[in-house]
Amino acid sequence: MGNDISKVVIKRLPRYLRVLELFMEREVERVSSKELAIKLGSTASQVRQDFNCFGDFGQHGYGYKVKDLYAKIKEILGLNKKYSCILVGAGNIGQAIINYSKFSNIGFDIEAIFDINPKLVGVSFRGIEVCDVENLDDYIQKNDIDIAILCVPEIQTLQTYEILKNKVRGIWNFATVDLNPTDYTSVENVHLNDGLFTLVYFINNRN
Ligand code: NAI
Repeated sequence: MGNDISKVVIKRLPRYLRVLELFMEREVERVSSKELAIKLGSTASQVRQDFNCFGDFGQHGYGYKVKDLYAKIKEILGLNKKYSCILVGAGNIGQAIINYSKFSNIGFDIEAIFDINPKLVGVSFRGIEVCDVENLDDYIQKNDIDIAILCVPEIQTLQTYEILKNKVRGIWNFATVDLNPTDYTSVENVHLNDGLFTLVYFINNRN
C-alpha cells in the first residue's frame, strides 16, 4: 500500500476525515459515497475510486460505516500514533502553532522550541522553554524527532534545513522557500497565501 498511492489521493484523505467527523457529530452510522461526495464537492465514483486504492471499505449498496471508515483513514494516514515534534523559529507563526493546543491533543507533541533571538531564549510557551538554536543539531542527534516545524525567516531557511535534513523524519515547512525531501526526510511546504489568493480570484470573478 502507502508508497504506490498518488499524492493527490493522500491529500484528499484529511478532507474525508473532516467530513466524517461531521457525520459522527450527528450520530450518522452509515454514509454512501454519494453523500460523502456532496459534502466534498466531488463525485460518488471519485470517492469509491479513492477508497479502492486502500482495499474495499464498504459493502455495495450499504455504504460505509462512518466510525469504521474514520478509523481506517486515520490508520492509513498514521494518525493512530504519537509524533515527537520540535519547532524552530518562535516568532509570529511559530507562537501561533505552539499556542494551538489541539495539535498536542491529536498526537503531535512539541517537545522543544529553538530560536536565535536571545530575547526569546529562556521564555516559556505552554510550559516549554525556548532553547538557543545553537543546541538544535545536538538535540536532534540525541533525540528521535519525527517532525520539525520550521518557521524561520526566508533567509535562514536553507541553513536550518541543512541541520534538520536526514535527522528528522519530516519537516512541516512554513517558510516561503520550498524545501525538497531527502531519502530520510519528508517535506510538506505550507503556503497560507495560496488560499488567500484563490479567495481573491473568486471575489473578483463572481457572476
Ligand atoms: P517572525 O520574524 O515573527 O519569526 C521568525 C522567528 O525565527 C523569530 O523569532 C527569529 O528570531 C527566529 N529565527 C531567525 N533565524 C533563526 C534561526 N536561524 N534559527 C532559529 N530561529 C530563527 O516571522 P513570522 O512572521 O513568524 O514568519 C516566519 C516565516 O514564515 C517567514 O519565513 C515568513 O516568510 C513565513 N511565512 C509563511 C507563510 C505561509 O503561508 N507559509 C505566511 C506568512 C509568513
